[in-house]
Amino acid sequence: MGEALLGLKRTIMCGELRESNIDNNVTVMGWVQRKRNLGGLIFVDLRDRTGILQVVFGEEIDKEAFLKADTIRSEYCIAVTGKIVRRESPNNNIPTGLVELKGNNVKILSESETTPIYIKENLDASENIRMKYRYLDLRRPDMQKIFMIRHKTAKVIRDYFDENSFLELETPILTKSTPEGARDYLVPSRNYPGMFYALPQSPQLFKQLLMVSGFDRYFQIVKCFRDEDLRANRQPEFTQVDIEMSFVEQDDVISINEGLIKKVFKDVLDVDVETPIKRMPYKEAMEKYGSDKPDLRFGMEITNITDVVLNSEFKVFKDAVENGGSIRAIKVDNCANMGRKDLDRLGEFVKTYKAKGLAWIAYKEDGIKSPISKFLKEEEMQQIISRMDAKVGDLILILSDSNKVVLQALGALRLELAKKLEILKDNNEFNFVWVTEFPLVSYNEEENRYQAEHHPFTAPMDEDIEYLDTDPSRVRAKAYDIVLNGEELGGGSIRIHDSSLQEKMFNVLGFTKEKAWERFGFLLEAFKFGPPPHGGLAFGFDRLIMFLTGTDNIKDVIAFPKNQNAFDPMTEAPNIVDINQLKELGLKVDVKDI
Ligand code: AMO
Ligand code: AMP
Repeated sequence: MGEALLGLKRTIMCGELRESNIDNNVTVMGWVQRKRNLGGLIFVDLRDRTGILQVVFGEEIDKEAFLKADTIRSEYCIAVTGKIVRRESPNNNIPTGLVELKGNNVKILSESETTPIYIKENLDASENIRMKYRYLDLRRPDMQKIFMIRHKTAKVIRDYFDENSFLELETPILTKSTPEGARDYLVPSRNYPGMFYALPQSPQLFKQLLMVSGFDRYFQIVKCFRDEDLRANRQPEFTQVDIEMSFVEQDDVISINEGLIKKVFKDVLDVDVETPIKRMPYKEAMEKYGSDKPDLRFGMEITNITDVVLNSEFKVFKDAVENGGSIRAIKVDNCANMGRKDLDRLGEFVKTYKAKGLAWIAYKEDGIKSPISKFLKEEEMQQIISRMDAKVGDLILILSDSNKVVLQALGALRLELAKKLEILKDNNEFNFVWVTEFPLVSYNEEENRYQAEHHPFTAPMDEDIEYLDTDPSRVRAKAYDIVLNGEELGGGSIRIHDSSLQEKMFNVLGFTKEKAWERFGFLLEAFKFGPPPHGGLAFGFDRLIMFLTGTDNIKDVIAFPKNQNAFDPMTEAPNIVDINQLKELGLKVDVKDI
């Protein structure tokens, strides 16, 4: 049973009270963190989103309030009126710890059953229970803090773009499939039975149309939908900070977004990000770090040693080279004494990346230990050590295979070792890098055709256009990703605005003119009417908030997220619908498939 407010007004938030409020009469409202009855006195820790305030009720203070307070239990929602006084035993752990509220009136606004999860920081409850009772999970102070940061970040972003003459414009959610490459979420149409809208994977085509309209500088904090395999940093519906600009080249887009990054980290975390942010061509990122999102907070770069062991007796190495592959290695400082079991585990680890085995060289005080020493001449061994710049005590890990497997496996091994050896344990830097010069297209072996690496409207680099006809995989794109601590925070490109170049691009991708028009006709039509040169970028807003709040789970930064199977345990969506709803849509569900 809950009492009504009946005109009672909250006068201040719990967490705001300080010594300067002593002797003030106040009314606060919130939830009971805990209650202690010490005989003649009852202490209640009252919580609202700003913090906790101690409230004391006493027989001597107000008998009626005291008796009512005795019926209060945890998580009851109450209102208390009284006077702020100095606390006899201060609590230095909370900002309100020097004062307390002497309650002379209490209203029980609503009662609460025992909550299925404990409302406290650092809760150790199963994720499923937390998601089922998400509204209670969100009542916890550490969760509330995350969403205050999310709010503040959105505000800083809006202010920044406003100051830089960008307009926030909305784009449709019920739309046609966009070319970002994941699976679409589809929405059946009632007006056109058998036809479907697609939820946008991004506002890509619409923001380009807004450039054709002359809006010049657009941004939007916008929901995007992608039906893809979910991981710790992916959700089926997520938020982008989406940006597009006219009359710009790559450097212009990069520089406006560096300004944004600088402002967000300064205003939200008081961290100075140095600009310009360093840049690294895709090729270098792949060769040195085996990844297009290199984590530059530590070294352990990949080194090519093919030329050194080219003529060795080791068949595995020879075969790799003959098949167009390579032999590459990483050096792990001070790990020459790594045990056999651990080395075997690393060997198993690289196998998950299709590598067939891992060779190692332990450069110990009493000489070199290595399972491949029997295949290598002393001189070759010395050359490897010198190429790797290894000192006594270091461990060298070597892989040979196709370039793709070697780089991917060593890149992953590098990250695995950093985790295992806790190299980044006390590291709290934000290490940004722009990865640039991505390949424009890649060859899809299964489908026997080239596919766009980014999307088909991404412009090739001017100096590579000549290879579009002869060797498309050699063409680099005006595409760029912003990478932070080994995560892709955002990505974008300069777009093709020239119709003959666009036609060429569709040719390379094996699109017939008809097919291109069928899919993107509205954009191609628009590009007949004076499209400006334009380009843009989109940040993963949720990923940005993950960094700003220090969590490695994207669900923590989304108020009502989906679980790993794209299911919401709270609403139980997705769910079956009424048969009449299906009929109206002209749909029949084959129950066998469910
Ligand atoms: P892209 O597909 O790279 O680019 O997406 C931009 C950024 O969005 C974030 N992101 C995700 N975050 C959470 N869950 C997901 N499932 C998810 N998928 C992507 C990433 C990514 O860097 N239209 C282009 C941008 C452009 O060219 O302007 C686009 O969507 O942080
Ligand atoms: P073997 O003579 O087969 O025992 O191989 C000697 C060493 O070479 C072992 O440590 C293997 O793990 C390693 N090895 C096998 N295949 C590869 C490979 N493709 N790249 C690097 N090392 C390998």
